[in-house]
Amino acid sequence: MSKTVLIGSQWGDEGKGKIIDVLTANADWVVRYQGGNNAGHTVEIGDQKYVLHLTPSGILRESCKCVIGNGLVVDLIGLMSELTELTERGIKLEGRLFISDRAHIVLHYHKAIDGTKEGNLEKGKKIGTTKRGIGPCYMDKADRIGLRMGDILEADFLDRVREMAISKNGVIEAMGGEALNVDEMVAEIAEAADYLKPFICDTIPILHKAVKDDDEILFEGAQGVMLDVDFGTYPFVTSSSTGAGGAPAGSGVPPNAIDRVVGIVKAYTTRVGEGPFPTELFDDMGAHIAQVGHEFGATTGRPRRCGWFDAVVAKYSAMVGGINEWALMKLDVLDAVETIKVCVAYECDGERLDSVPASISKLQRCKPVYEDFKGWNTPTTDCTCWDELPEQAKKYVEYIEAITGVKVAILSVGPKRASTMLLDR
Ligand code: GDP
Ligand code: IMO
Ligand code: MG
Repeated sequence: MSKTVLIGSQWGDEGKGKIIDVLTANADWVVRYQGGNNAGHTVEIGDQKYVLHLTPSGILRESCKCVIGNGLVVDLIGLMSELTELTERGIKLEGRLFISDRAHIVLHYHKAIDGTKEGNLEKGKKIGTTKRGIGPCYMDKADRIGLRMGDILEADFLDRVREMAISKNGVIEAMGGEALNVDEMVAEIAEAADYLKPFICDTIPILHKAVKDDDEILFEGAQGVMLDVDFGTYPFVTSSSTGAGGAPAGSGVPPNAIDRVVGIVKAYTTRVGEGPFPTELFDDMGAHIAQVGHEFGATTGRPRRCGWFDAVVAKYSAMVGGINEWALMKLDVLDAVETIKVCVAYECDGERLDSVPASISKLQRCKPVYEDFKGWNTPTTDCTCWDELPEQAKKYVEYIEAITGVKVAILSVGPKRASTMLLDR
């Protein structure tokens, strides 16, 4: 049985939730290993739509168990409301959801600091965060002052929350923000902590047993490689390791247990939030992709910026992510596009670049070098296998494989489970 990491390989929202859901038909475990409720993973099953932020997408298949690993930052109130909604919709959680006692807790002050900091930054410097407190919580983790899920089980937990909140109120006020009502906050945290208590445990031995028993394990990445704190378009990134390397660090499963990495990419590119995006479209074509692809953030509802497929980004993600295969998503969104463009290199200061530069100002000066590709002008969303695809659509898939050097193993032509092809060519 395989131990597979699925990672977003652009700037997030590639369709990770959908692919996890498709692959959980055969999986025993789904493990989230980084990020928090900045993520929004959509799964559509029949006429039901679920958007999961902290809960692994495997929760929707009863045969699958789910782990919120040590690498996450968990918003207690956000998670409680997500789990309450899932329960109301008939999803059983008992014995299926395990939350690491080593995962860090996002508290009200992290969100207040996130929002205040963003508000204080001048245009051009804003990151466009989800304001979910992700960065400030990872800061506290690195500063060794964070509270962890396991602390909930200790008698002095609420005292520690109170003490931290009083000290962070000083920080918030110094930033020009509004101090939090500590009593109200502690009461809300007490309720959510109580609700989540039964799910908290040491997930490391559980996952090691799963590895030893040779269970099928899927690691569900959040965000995407271009938002990785090391490899992404820093500083316009999130605060965790979104790539495959994050999986061992954020779950306790050792790297040599992982045998497959699937990179998830859209047939074009989107980005939500600020930061460079070389193939971004500002014209009618960008609006067309946004409209057909329903490109609005699953967490914040913000419109996503849209552009052409960027093979420089895909190759770079494949390189740093150790990607073995692609899941190519949303091919159907390009069904009515006459001429599709693919960025094969960048041109910067008279020089041709084949990899993503570290310097943000250099990346901002990069102009995409495009190759044109004739569209297929035929609906693909009802195609169920390779042979049913229009010839030009097949050629587009093969073209992406050729320029990135990675095979497309999964092809998605619609949001539903059925609109997915596991390619065996
Ligand atoms: P994630 O964060 O990577 O899980 O992706 P999101 O859920 O934020 O965004 C992906 C969106 O695309 C969701 O609304 C999905 O329902 C939708 N989607 C996924 N795959 C396809 C596809 O192949 N075609 C179309 N048209 N929509 C898709
Ligand atoms: P999923 O898992 C797309 C972006 C934000 C912002 C930057 C930093 O659904 O793909 P943060 O709140 O993390 O400090 O914001 O990262 N971002 C995402 N963009 N999809 C996501 O998650 C994202 N999570 C964070 O828009 O630009
Ligand atoms: Mg998303």
